[in-house]
Amino acid sequence: MIILGINAYHGDAAAAIIKDGKLIAAVEEERFNRFKHCAGFPIESIKYCLLTAGVTIEDVDHVGISRDPSAHLHKKVLFAATRAAKQAVGGRRQEAVGTIDDGDVGGASVNGGNASNGNGAGIFSQIKDRLGNAAKVRDLRDELARQLNIPKSNIRAQFHNVEHHRAHLASAFYVSPFEKAALLSIDGFGDFISTMWAVGEGNSIDVLGQVEYPHSTGIVYTATTQFIGFPHYGDEGKVMGLAPYGRPRFINEFREIIRTEENGQFRLNLDYFRHHAEGVDMTWDQGSPVIGRIFSDEFAQTFGPARQQGTELTDRERDIAASLQLRLEEVGFHVLNHLHDKTGLTDLGLAGGVAYNSVMNGKILLNTPFKRMFIQPAAGDSGTALGVCYQIYNGILNRNRGEVMEGAYTGPQFSNNEIRKALESSNIGFEEYSDEEVTKRAARDIADGLVVGWFQGRMEFGPRALGNRSIVVDPRRADMKDILNDRIKKREPFRPFAPSILEERVGDYFEQTHPAPTMLMVYQIKEEKRLEIPAVTHVDGSGRLQTVSPTVNDRYYRLISEFNQLTGVPVILNTSFNENEPIVCTPQEAINCFLKTRMDVLYVGNCAVRRR
Ligand SMILES: [Fe+2]
Repeated sequence: MIILGINAYHGDAAAAIIKDGKLIAAVEEERFNRFKHCAGFPIESIKYCLLTAGVTIEDVDHVGISRDPSAHLHKKVLFAATRAAKQAVGGRRQEAVGTIDDGDVGGASVNGGNASNGNGAGIFSQIKDRLGNAAKVRDLRDELARQLNIPKSNIRAQFHNVEHHRAHLASAFYVSPFEKAALLSIDGFGDFISTMWAVGEGNSIDVLGQVEYPHSTGIVYTATTQFIGFPHYGDEGKVMGLAPYGRPRFINEFREIIRTEENGQFRLNLDYFRHHAEGVDMTWDQGSPVIGRIFSDEFAQTFGPARQQGTELTDRERDIAASLQLRLEEVGFHVLNHLHDKTGLTDLGLAGGVAYNSVMNGKILLNTPFKRMFIQPAAGDSGTALGVCYQIYNGILNRNRGEVMEGAYTGPQFSNNEIRKALESSNIGFEEYSDEEVTKRAARDIADGLVVGWFQGRMEFGPRALGNRSIVVDPRRADMKDILNDRIKKREPFRPFAPSILEERVGDYFEQTHPAPTMLMVYQIKEEKRLEIPAVTHVDGSGRLQTVSPTVNDRYYRLISEFNQLTGVPVILNTSFNENEPIVCTPQEAINCFLKTRMDVLYVGNCAVRRR
């Protein structure tokens, strides 16, 4: 039984493949075509998945896409009609309704209506759009055949549309270790819904509640991110990093912008937004998604003029970021506490673009009755490709569960032979070490203060480098942040770098100990340890940690262990292996990055290249 899952025509296009319930491969298209957050059709990812499973498209039994144009259609029509009626009463000629609902904006999560999210033209065009989208998804078989260059009749697979949030929920549950769990999917929008909660048990997921268009936490985060001068897709993480520098002195304003209601619901004050009334453009041209302005002039009325990108950050922006972050947390806990009240459960599966807000995630166990959490590494839209596979396998076909996703290592890998060839063709001298020696040498280099490229095994799925496509340095050196930014990353100075820590030592360094293997939780670092690891301690004393265990990533675990032996510190600084581009995928890309930056040493598999 082979199932292929696809996230297409959305940001973070991706594919995943499972064989008899076992996860074989999952990967984002940006890693192949090198456009960050690339939208469109993930043909290279699909090819990689098929190759890794050792099959061709003809062998695939089911193909699913994380989008269902027919889902919630009646709600959309109702919304459009109500809006049109209101505008008629108000004497406004404009009858535009945004179609951004088709897509999913916010929380680093856009799954757009294929560049067509401009002004709608009323209810009939809404329905027409819907039918057009339905046709497009129906055409998935055509597109697949065309891109793979085979006759359509060769594809015997059954095709499925899985509603966007159900795909998120499936990704948060079916590969979790929980037999039964409360589930929350929270993002910008997908299939007209921004937030959906459910209970998962065995092979089924029962939806308990949802928040509908145009109300969305992701929209608030993205709009505010734009307002304070970070316009790019995925910039929400920068605002999260900025927040601890500010004071939440605008919290009352944000409580007005997004209000909580009974039964886990929340509503936006729509005066602050454009998406519901005017539509918001969302475009991509085979590349990264670009979102139009979501915030309305009301933001400027309340906070003063929007900050222009590139101008100096002031306390106002820091305070807005702090207020926004606090309000997101308040609303998130409001939904989660309702979810707990309804289910009585203490295990939680979390997904959706807003689940990339690791600061909020790290506070969930402190502010709700939940005791254990599972966040799949690709919690955002790329992970819906994985969710689709398991929604079909467990939810639709009712096959038993068996896969627990402990790591994120589902992408391409390269043999030492391939690595040698790449190095030789680049004309670079290198040394080769035994398995044992390679971690020892690298740990020594890190302890000596070198900037070390660490390229090993299968590439990670999701936005975080987790020790296979990483740059690693000594966290004890306060100057490492500046060195990394100066030599390689060129990031805004307020953004923190993250620690990887031996799983069994978390309690020695952090105030919470729940495992965080996918680097999606921020905890407070114990006060007495902050000076020991200054390069990974954020301004508020927090750290976005990755807990590392030998069962999930043995080689990375050994690297940190060796570093611990040398220094007595079981922590290294881990940042993604890239320079303003998607994370490197191939040895050649790693070599190119090494050559064009000022990295000191590069370990690719068992080979090491030193800058001379
Ligand atoms: Fe989403």
